[in-house]
Amino acid sequence: MKSEAGITSHPKPCYRFNFWKRIWLKTRVNINQERAFLLIFGCAVLLVFAYNTLTPSPSVTSDALKNSPSVLCRELRNIYEFLSNGDRAFLWETAGNDTLDIRQACAVESLALHNPNVTAYVLFSQERVNSSSITLRTLTEKYKNIRIVGINMDDYMAGTALEHWYKFTDWRNGPYHVSHFSDALRFTTLSKYGGYYFDLDIIHVRPVTYYRNFIATEDGTSASAGAIHADYGHPVMQMAVNDFPANYRADVWAHNGPALLGRVLTKWCGVNSLSEANYLKCRGFSVLPKASFYPIHYPSWREFFNQRGTNDTMKPDWLTTDVIGVHFWNKLSYGEPAFRNSTQYYTQLARIHCPATFSIAPDVF
Ligand SMILES: *[C@@H]1O[C@H](CO)[C@@H](O)[C@H](O)[C@H]1NC(C)=O
Ligand SMILES: *[C@@H]1O[C@H](CO)[C@@H](O)[C@H](O)[C@H]1NC(C)=O
Ligand SMILES: *[C@@H]1O[C@H](CO)[C@@H](O)[C@H](O)[C@H]1NC(C)=O
Ligand SMILES: *[C@@H]1O[C@H](CO)[C@@H](O)[C@H](O)[C@H]1NC(C)=O
Ligand SMILES: *[C@@H]1O[C@H](CO)[C@@H](O)[C@H](O)[C@H]1NC(C)=O
Repeated sequence: MKSEAGITSHPKPCYRFNFWKRIWLKTRVNINQERAFLLIFGCAVLLVFAYNTLTPSPSVTSDALKNSPSVLCRELRNIYEFLSNGDRAFLWETAGNDTLDIRQACAVESLALHNPNVTAYVLFSQERVNSSSITLRTLTEKYKNIRIVGINMDDYMAGTALEHWYKFTDWRNGPYHVSHFSDALRFTTLSKYGGYYFDLDIIHVRPVTYYRNFIATEDGTSASAGAIHADYGHPVMQMAVNDFPANYRADVWAHNGPALLGRVLTKWCGVNSLSEANYLKCRGFSVLPKASFYPIHYPSWREFFNQRGTNDTMKPDWLTTDVIGVHFWNKLSYGEPAFRNSTQYYTQLARIHCPATFSIAPDVF
């Protein structure tokens, strides 16, 4: 019942599909007319014949167009309709696990805590999800705006720009295939539904909903793919899902994610490098500064886990009011222990911004 907005926004993919179908049909009509044109020069008798046989086709076409939307919509209607009163955010678990660990759950909770009007969809790249595991149970019991969904990937990718890449190429053999799969899913999801995408290693510290249509830079010059918003149907995401399969490279870690966003945005903004991009050139799309989500650059990730004096609960100087979320570089930091009773920056952030998850965290997490 609270899902009206979501439902009404969904027929759009069908219209878009119809647009291409219409062009295809129009092309066919043009070919037919050209053929008719040649026949005029050939023979008057044949012209009459051609007229009789070819003129019916445009009317068939418009009938087909009039009747097709419902049929096409039924065919294309995605079984996943992520409904929400307000904005939607998507987070993907793509490593094949059926639950979230404490740090991932903390990321989800912090998003839901600071953005009560955003429905946070935690999507698993397989259908099997252990919803009675302690982390998932805690999230869904404590937050009305968190949904956990196990996804059938074949269904999810069907009809998308990445379907062929997903089903028929050997991407799974690449050295960075888990990262690249995750890149593929964030762009596919935002092009299908629009909304926010966040990595599962960001602790949100304030609301993000003031910001729309953005990516963030992690160093001032290059794009990052860990925090993105795109309105439904935004051309930047359409460009991203077209670029992905066309320029896919299995052997370069950043090529299909951060670098892809860099390629797409410089093109969209008409600039040579991302540092020249601005709101006007990018027609309302933003490149948020590094402080927004990457206040600590990845080579300094240990900053989050360094032991500090018991009394040292001072706020770090990098935690300014510009920070929306703190990316803690899980790919590098996952093995580093966080002590529940410590004043490590990671622990301090978790204690404040994911209180329910923190309450179930073991002494070392
Ligand atoms: C996912 O599961 C594997 C094996 O079951 C485990 O080693 C790994 O730590 C898990 N990763 C996360 C992020 O939970
Ligand atoms: C959430 O939405 C309600 C109703 O639209 C609005 O009144 C409220 O200010 C919003 N809260 C936030 C934190 O955006
Ligand atoms: C789900 O998680 C619960 C709690 O950790 C565990 O007891 C149960 O065995 C798990 N179920 C499956 C199917 O793994
Ligand atoms: C912590 O601070 C309190 C008061 O500021 C002081 O009395 C105490 O000795 C300090 N403890 C440590 C371990 O530094
Ligand atoms: C915090 O917990 C760790 C491990 O559980 C323990 O070794 C350490 O002594 C504790 N530190 C304090 C200050 O309580």
